Amino acid sequence: MQHFDLPLKNRPKNIVVLTGAGISQESGIRTFRAADGLWEDHRIEDVATPEGFARDPALVHRFYNARRQHLQSDDVVPNPAHLALAEFDQAVSGQLLVVTQNVDDLHDRAGQAQLIHMHGELLKARCAVSGHVTRAPLVLDESMKCDCCGLSETLRPDIVWFGEMPMEMDRIYQALSCADMFISIGTSGNVYPAAGFCREANQVGACTVELNLEPSSTSSEFQYTFYGPAGSLVPAFIDYLKRLPVAG
Ligand code: APR
Repeated sequence: MQHFDLPLKNRPKNIVVLTGAGISQESGIRTFRAADGLWEDHRIEDVATPEGFARDPALVHRFYNARRQHLQSDDVVPNPAHLALAEFDQAVSGQLLVVTQNVDDLHDRAGQAQLIHMHGELLKARCAVSGHVTRAPLVLDESMKCDCCGLSETLRPDIVWFGEMPMEMDRIYQALSCADMFISIGTSGNVYPAAGFCREANQVGACTVELNLEPSSTSSEFQYTFYGPAGSLVPAFIDYLKRLPVAG
């Protein structure tokens, strides 16, 4: 049983949680930078950049179609980490925001109310011309037309690629500016701007906590670090927060 030795008198009221691929690993989704991670089989510049899409859209569609199909298979479901966050969110309505770098829908399926997909969503497609966002079919390809402008060859996965601006950054920085706790779960801390959120939170005096399988690239910036698989570590940490007294 993990012991969380934080000197908190009361339960934090404005909690921002950042999640990465590690939170979905126990749901059967591959992470990126592990020895068996997605970036071992695929070159980032081929499948996760606007230039790669312009060069070979069919290859990029195949990469995301395979991930989308896997996400919708019966054995991929939210794990206890997604469920504990969603349940806590419902209990402390309005006090918890989850910002995920993940493009899967496991936080959504767990019932997370306040959720930002800063790197986009696998289950959505976006027209590069009109910006219209729609539900992605299981198999997206160049022949499909945008519902809005009627053009073909313009639909792309609604994913933020390397070199593009993540989504809803104003809302995220606003939430960080008044956070009293920042928790980073299952991310290696290699990709900015998300890797800079701990520093932002430290600057406003928030309590910063890393929950990960192993130390990340930014571990030294966190005030508290706890290591283990998210499926057991996150529910235990949420349980610890739940038991803290609520300030009067
Ligand atoms: N529980 C907790 N943490 C885990 C688990 C687990 N079961 N399994 C793996 N991890 C940790 C790893 O130790 C690693 O630190 O999760 C982290 C996953 O790191 P990455 O594969 O780099 O994924 P992430 O940090 O989400 O990547 C950030 O990079 O490729 C881009 O846009 C993509 O959103 C992604 C971004």
